[in-house]
Amino acid sequence: MDHTQLKLSEEKVFKDPVHRYVHVRDKIIWSLIGTKEFQRLRRIKQLGTTYLTFHGAEHSRFNHSLGVYEIVRRIVDDVFEGRPEWNEQERLLSLCAALLHDLGHGPFSHSFEKVYHTDHELFTRKIILGNTEVNEVLRQVSLDFPQKVADVIGKTYPDKLVVSLISSQIDADRMDYLQRDAYFTGVSYGHFDMERILRVMRPREDQVVFKSTGMHAVEDYIMSRYQMYWQVYFHPVTRSAEVILTKILQRAKALYESSYHFKYQPLHFISLFEENVTLEDYLKLDEPVILYYFQMWEEEEDNILSDLCYRFMNRNLLKYVEFDPANQYKLLGTLEELFHKAEIDPDYYLAVDSSSDLPYDFYRPGEEEERLPIHLSMSDGELHELSRESTIVEAISGKRRTDHKLYYPEDLLTDYSKHAEIKQQIMSILKKD
Ligand code: NI
Repeated sequence: MDHTQLKLSEEKVFKDPVHRYVHVRDKIIWSLIGTKEFQRLRRIKQLGTTYLTFHGAEHSRFNHSLGVYEIVRRIVDDVFEGRPEWNEQERLLSLCAALLHDLGHGPFSHSFEKVYHTDHELFTRKIILGNTEVNEVLRQVSLDFPQKVADVIGKTYPDKLVVSLISSQIDADRMDYLQRDAYFTGVSYGHFDMERILRVMRPREDQVVFKSTGMHAVEDYIMSRYQMYWQVYFHPVTRSAEVILTKILQRAKALYESSYHFKYQPLHFISLFEENVTLEDYLKLDEPVILYYFQMWEEEEDNILSDLCYRFMNRNLLKYVEFDPANQYKLLGTLEELFHKAEIDPDYYLAVDSSSDLPYDFYRPGEEEERLPIHLSMSDGELHELSRESTIVEAISGKRRTDHKLYYPEDLLTDYSKHAEIKQQIMSILKKD
């Protein structure tokens, strides 16, 4: 039986706050949603520590993955259908890749990857190709189907049009998360006219292009992406929580390596500490599990670990000041010394965090990494790169902006019961400008 054609007897729908409904008609998609590896995404938040800044941001990678699937479904079923440039055979592959593109994300991925060197893209591949329920469902289509799905997500699949649906500078992934994150955080940025963008999308041999009449909707999308990065994704308070989280992971590992005796054995962490995480171990990690440890570790003998966990769980975050890496690295050295004198370990309580974004870019000859530009299809059929037509986009093209902050524990530094003079000295340095 040809599983690419197999439909459910009745369409299933999920109510969705962003797209109103998510429609499922294919049996394979329905089965994939039911696998335990996909259900696990319900227990991983889309925006990590952002909920400590924007309390609405509790939405999961499960919601987002369904949303990306729904956008791709609308593109292939409504926009591309019947167009000669579009190969109908790629329909189910596109839908599966959209649904599964974030499957390998772990709890608070960003911090875990930094400290334990895990890689969510690698785990997405392993889940799709390994001994999993997802793999079993995909193999019903054909034996080489799991590999194809992994290749689309890994951007190595030969049909670049399919790849561009889920990874390009304007793809279903970004279109979903911008709107979804705007909705759940409650900010007024992040909204753009996706209906209009879908209407002007056209398939070409190697990528999706946009009819030039829809240029303003595309501009609006680029600007909303720019705004969301600075207003939400790089919010300094969110980053403060992330610094603490990273320090907890770092401290737990250092204690394990020094044969510290944990009151609560960190069983789920051992293979992470040793950096030999198997797929089986990895799939057991989700945010409820991690938060359970953080709560238990509040009672550990180690003051640093217990204090950091207390801070994370109770939102007692680090304060920050602007930091200029070009001119202030010497200052950092001075501060570290003073922290030692004040008996506050700078390895865990003083941190520089940098965020940086490139809102839109086009390829310049001689550059290493090519970013596929957004192309407009003009009335004469020619393709023009977006920033050639749009002065708004031209103004921000290729401009990377980086923001550096220095984080410190103001509560400890203003507790003058011990080392008052040194602490006052530290505070006067931090508050200087
Ligand atoms: Ni995504």
